[in-house]
Amino acid sequence: MVSPLLSCLSLFLIALQPAAAIWPAPQSFTKGSSILYLHQNIQITYNGAPPVCPDEGLDAKQFLYQQIPYTYGYVPYKLTSKEVVQAGVSRTLAGIFDSKFVPWKLHKPGSKWEPDLSQGQKWLKTLQIVQTGEDQPSAFKPLAGEVDESYDLTVSAEGHVKLTAVSSIGVLHGLESFSQLFYQHSAGTFWYTPYAPVSIRDAPKFPHRGIMMDTARNFFPVPDILRTIDAMAWNKLNRLHVHVTDSQSWPLVIPALPEVSEKGAYHPTQTYSPADIDQIQKYGAARGVEVYFEIDMPGHIGVVSLSHPELIVAYNELPYWWWCAEPPCGAFKLNDTAVDAFLETLFDDLLPRLAPYAAYFHTGGDELNKNDSMLDEGIRSNASEVLQPLLQKFIDTQHARVRKAGLTPITWEEIPLEWNVTMGKDTVVQSWLGGDSIKTLTGMGHKVIDSNYNFWYLDCGRGQWLNWDNGPAFSTGFPFNDWCDPAKSWRLVYSHDPTANLTADEAKLVLGGEVALWSETIDATNFDTLAWPRASAAGEVLWSGRTDAQGQNRSQLDAAPRLNELRERMVLRGVRAAPIQMTPRVDSFVQPGYFTMGLIETLVDHVSARSVLLLGPGLLLAYIIVAVVVRPALQEMKLARMSGARAPRIQSVLPFGIDFVYGGVRASMTYQNLVFWRGMFSHIPSHNTIEGRIAGRRIIFTADPENIKAILATQFNDYGKGKPFHAEWSPFLGDSIFTTDGALWHNSRQLIRPQFIKDRVSDLHVFESHMQTLFRAIANGGALNGEAQPVDIEAGNGKPVDISDLFFRFTLDSATDFLLGHDVKSLSNPRQEFADAFAEVQRVQSIIARAGALNSIVPRGSFRKGMKVINNFINQYIERTLRLSPDELAGKAKSDAGYTFLHALAGYTRDRQVLRDQLIAVLLAGRDTTACTLSWTVYELARHPEALEKLRAEILAVVGPTRAPTYDDLKSMKYLQNVMNETLRLYPVVPFNVRLAIKNTTLPRGGGPDGLEPVKVLKDTPIAYSTLAMQRRADLYPPASATFAPVDVYSPDRWSSGWQPKPWQYIPFNGGPRICIGQQFALTEMGYVLTRLFQRYERIDNYMGEIDGGNPALRAEIVLQPGDGVKVGLWEAKRTVNGEK
Ligand code: HEM
Repeated sequence: MVSPLLSCLSLFLIALQPAAAIWPAPQSFTKGSSILYLHQNIQITYNGAPPVCPDEGLDAKQFLYQQIPYTYGYVPYKLTSKEVVQAGVSRTLAGIFDSKFVPWKLHKPGSKWEPDLSQGQKWLKTLQIVQTGEDQPSAFKPLAGEVDESYDLTVSAEGHVKLTAVSSIGVLHGLESFSQLFYQHSAGTFWYTPYAPVSIRDAPKFPHRGIMMDTARNFFPVPDILRTIDAMAWNKLNRLHVHVTDSQSWPLVIPALPEVSEKGAYHPTQTYSPADIDQIQKYGAARGVEVYFEIDMPGHIGVVSLSHPELIVAYNELPYWWWCAEPPCGAFKLNDTAVDAFLETLFDDLLPRLAPYAAYFHTGGDELNKNDSMLDEGIRSNASEVLQPLLQKFIDTQHARVRKAGLTPITWEEIPLEWNVTMGKDTVVQSWLGGDSIKTLTGMGHKVIDSNYNFWYLDCGRGQWLNWDNGPAFSTGFPFNDWCDPAKSWRLVYSHDPTANLTADEAKLVLGGEVALWSETIDATNFDTLAWPRASAAGEVLWSGRTDAQGQNRSQLDAAPRLNELRERMVLRGVRAAPIQMTPRVDSFVQPGYFTMGLIETLVDHVSARSVLLLGPGLLLAYIIVAVVVRPALQEMKLARMSGARAPRIQSVLPFGIDFVYGGVRASMTYQNLVFWRGMFSHIPSHNTIEGRIAGRRIIFTADPENIKAILATQFNDYGKGKPFHAEWSPFLGDSIFTTDGALWHNSRQLIRPQFIKDRVSDLHVFESHMQTLFRAIANGGALNGEAQPVDIEAGNGKPVDISDLFFRFTLDSATDFLLGHDVKSLSNPRQEFADAFAEVQRVQSIIARAGALNSIVPRGSFRKGMKVINNFINQYIERTLRLSPDELAGKAKSDAGYTFLHALAGYTRDRQVLRDQLIAVLLAGRDTTACTLSWTVYELARHPEALEKLRAEILAVVGPTRAPTYDDLKSMKYLQNVMNETLRLYPVVPFNVRLAIKNTTLPRGGGPDGLEPVKVLKDTPIAYSTLAMQRRADLYPPASATFAPVDVYSPDRWSSGWQPKPWQYIPFNGGPRICIGQQFALTEMGYVLTRLFQRYERIDNYMGEIDGGNPALRAEIVLQPGDGVKVGLWEAKRTVNGEK
């Protein structure tokens, strides 16, 4: 058996051997180890000339035609097979002779690797090129698959080279492989291959292998485009897709519409004339690279507004995210004859010029924003049912024009998938959104080009290009990553298989793929470095296939040295490709063991508890072994290789942390979570971060403000809610703000945030009518039996009532009123269907969330029933709102009467699912949180009459006994604010929370013996954090004194003692980019309720002592609520204990 050390060493050596680095890997390739030298005089023939001068009688003209000696810098004067081949030969040999590739970097320092020149040279004698087929006219502008690109190449030990191909394009590919067999000798003018004899059979797996270049966001001079075409040919890439215009600029000169580029180009020098386009296309065609163009429409076309404002809607409209994906916005009017006339002129001019050298024309179609058409006076709607037929007609018309010019249309995937536009089966669809798109599109019968952004968007991961103002905007943007972070390394690019998970029939429809370089922050200065050699990695997948001849995924170990060598060649041939590794000296580039680990982990991660249970006890046992033994062991190996320290371990005596789990569950059931958390840290004084393995899974617990700050703000992009959270919560909260990360979350936040601006938050009348019902329910001792139930207010004085139950009803009524314009009247109905359903769904959801991997076995019958009730209820309001036209909506916004949160959202989106998800999310966020805080406040005021007295004095001084408070009144009441702050300090509504590491990362503190070193964190590790435990840490407060109460004691006065919590030590509303949106709304609502209550009531009788003995039950499910309710009696002002006047 080979020891791991030895195998590791041999891999190291492989990394340093030149590997006959043919890139992309040929389908079959054998080589020897004899050395042959190449001379500029090598006899080169094309299609059958004898290798020597003709005798008399031979046709001299034919002979000359067939002899194609190496001529430096040969340029084809027209696109014929022989011209293309001869120019190819010229470039190939110049590539070998000029690039001076002495491969010292590929060898161990000090080793002897060059041939010994003193031993004499065996020369290559002939290069015989045989093209077996005749090039069709389409050979230089083929549809995918129309040209045969295969070739065979042999180099005999005697020095004869034979290259056979059906087409001249196949010959070019063979010549490229030939050139990659050669190196220059360090002694100077000797070029050799050490691999003779050689035999290669080769053909591409996919016919469409491309790069998308964006010349609209930044301009690329023609020479830079030509250089890219050269580099593509070296990589056997054959399609250059030029995204030539976009909303930012129009560099394309259209003689029939000169004003478009005159006004739309960044500068008169940044344009492509018809001659430039001709040159670019011909240059590509002679190298087997078809250059085709895209004019993106009907979105992404705002720039036309500069010359033709009448054709465009939403140009440069703000806030941009309502109108388009990035500024400046702008789309064609979808139902306008002037647009059609413009496009007719444009296409009549452009397409006939493109068609001689391209088979395709791309009509764009990505990211069309429905809202744009709301600004179109001819449409004024963003409803899909209105826009879809218009878009269908638009696409039909443009595609007909493309076909008429002899071209085949290409569109982005949104056209068929998002807009349900039907298109001719000839149309090719370019997919970028990943997920199941390719499967869906091929299932629909479309031919597809894959540009999955998760793998093949090479511009990603280099940060935002938008700017953020100081203040809150800064923290929202921080740390300014771009939307498709992280960067796609060559390994990630290489791992992608466009036909993964497809059936054979579906796979046949995948023409290939393109890597894309959107150019917001790319121009000619950095294009090469960003494109290469990552585009080469995609190039090999597309030419050679993701799997090798044995059906195994191609290995990075095989690819890395070849890619490294290719990169050296590219740099020497004038393309600034980025290095893929440091210059080798002593280190190994191999990560031993990662392969098997990845496999097993993938297995574990993809087995759900339910599937395991269904498959029976044998597999269950295997699952348990893998989950609690194998996976932890593998993770420990990974952790051992990471830098950083470990946090102290949780104390646990039973295997797999069973005693810890039991303790946690018990604490939760008995409302002792805080005690449990404190206990966790108690055996390690001064540590507030701890870790353990629970059922095999590493979990980190922290109550350290530094770590919480990192998770929520400074390392925001390292941590997220994660996919498991989304999976657990989405049946309830959909794709709303609470369940998503990244772009989805960001969109939700942008949608909801404007609804909580001060104007809306300061509108208090929504609370007042419910306040009056609350008073009656208090006097009644509980919820009313119908709105009309008579209540003797006088008799209610001091009557015991669970005020917590009433607060939950009050906040439900006012939240539904605020959100939908209709309250569910739970204060006046003890059993209310919606309220019961909402409570049941939350109960089951909280069990699902706690069950972790076992959540699929939680029964969901009542959950589904409840969701039906909730959805039916909310949907009727959504339908009602969507029946309003945009004008009616706008009118409602102005009049303000009956204008609700739902109306405001519907002004931005008419997507029913989006509306539903966001409404339920905000209902959940807004209802329980305020109800809990109000409940805790009354709980504490009942046992702190001195605080109640001060609060009431302030209220009476500011608003008197009856006047309803204004927003400014509430903000001016300092003691009221202190009361709420103190409640949220002792009882933060979200007491325990969790985030998942979405990459390998660290926490800044908690490791090492003193707990001050960073803790290493593997991707997918959950970090549980507790604001409750942190906000009650005595060491974060000044010592208790006569003027500063102990940490666990309720004391609003501490907030006016000169003390202020330090940043991140008091965060009831969270912090960082995901800080609570409803903070001001909540403080206003709660301040209003407390003011109204204590204008009216002057005294609270506390009945809780008999129930909990003064130890409040901290029930922490989704939110922190009083576990035993809050039983009190309230006394109206000007009354005595006995009820006498
Ligand atoms: C005392 C009252 C409230 C407290 C203590 C509170 C606390 C919080 C906390 C801790 C979070 C972060 C949750 C997480 O990311 O894991 C949060 C998020 C949120 N809260 Fe509040 N909240 C309160 C009231 C409200 C109200 C009244 C609304 C709306 C009507 C609201 C809307 C939201 C929303 C939409 C989020 C999600 C933010 C995001 O993920 O970007 N909250 N809240």
